[in-house]
Amino acid sequence: MIDSEVVRALMRRKSIRKYKPDMPSDEVIGAVVRAGMQAPFASQLYSVVLSKDRKRNAFGAPLQFVVCADCHKLRLFMRERGWGLVSNDLTMLLFAVQDASYMAQNMVIAAESLGMGSCYLGGALGVAAHLKKQLGLPGKVFPFVMLAMGYPAEDPPVRPRYPIDFVLFEGKYPRLGRKEVRRAMEAMDAYYLETGYYRNLNAKIRLEKGRRETFTYDDYTWTEHISRKWGQWHPDIGEQLKQLDACGFNLTEKKRKRNKKNRK
Ligand SMILES: Cc1cc2nc3c(=O)[nH]c(=O)nc-3n(C[C@H](O)[C@H](O)[C@H](O)COP(=O)(O)O)c2cc1C
Repeated sequence: MIDSEVVRALMRRKSIRKYKPDMPSDEVIGAVVRAGMQAPFASQLYSVVLSKDRKRNAFGAPLQFVVCADCHKLRLFMRERGWGLVSNDLTMLLFAVQDASYMAQNMVIAAESLGMGSCYLGGALGVAAHLKKQLGLPGKVFPFVMLAMGYPAEDPPVRPRYPIDFVLFEGKYPRLGRKEVRRAMEAMDAYYLETGYYRNLNAKIRLEKGRRETFTYDDYTWTEHISRKWGQWHPDIGEQLKQLDACGFNLTEKKRKRNKKNRK
């Protein structure tokens, strides 16, 4: 594979779940966030709220950022210009989540280059309303992921990915047959079995609704783990809509009513 310093760094990166207690300096934090902000954006629809409370942060990390899709600041300056937000909440949210994600991932890479590690935490999606209260988020700010960060106290192996031909399709999306699917599954699962990943963590996802467990840690793999997540969790869209609604994103409203403010 052709490589460069950046490609090498990206290929080496892994999520870190054990941290030294050392607090990164404000200069380091500033550099990470500023580099994050230099990511491409649609409209800079992001904010990050930082916690330096190791007792509360996941993995005892010295830093934890709540990454927010933020349309509040946009609305504020539009108001200054005599405009109101007319675009529907779903489109705004999709753009904002992109802006905030690209920013967060730039932070991950910047942190790595400064000797730190990080790990995303997806739980925010389910507790967004609580985070809104706790952090005093205004309306139209949706906290969708958290990012733990600090100096690593572990050096886990790099995790595998699908084969590239399961991801990169030139010109047209191919018909994926069982052979291709199985090959991709094996590419992922081999690592998790060889390293005893789930056995070491004792992290089998429980089967719900009377399904009988037939897997042991000898055959419980990443594709089984992921299948159990998306085959059992979050069947009801209502709960997620509630979290979004609490943060000021109404995804069921057909059309936003124009008010006098939306004069242009
Ligand atoms: C949106 C998102 C949510 C995640 N949530 C968690 C989490 O709650 N707990 C955790 O330990 N890792 C979490 N991760 C980290 C992934 O498990 C990790 O990135 C993935 O297994 C690949 O491993 P790697 O980052 O070491 O290459 C999350 C990653 C993303 C992008």
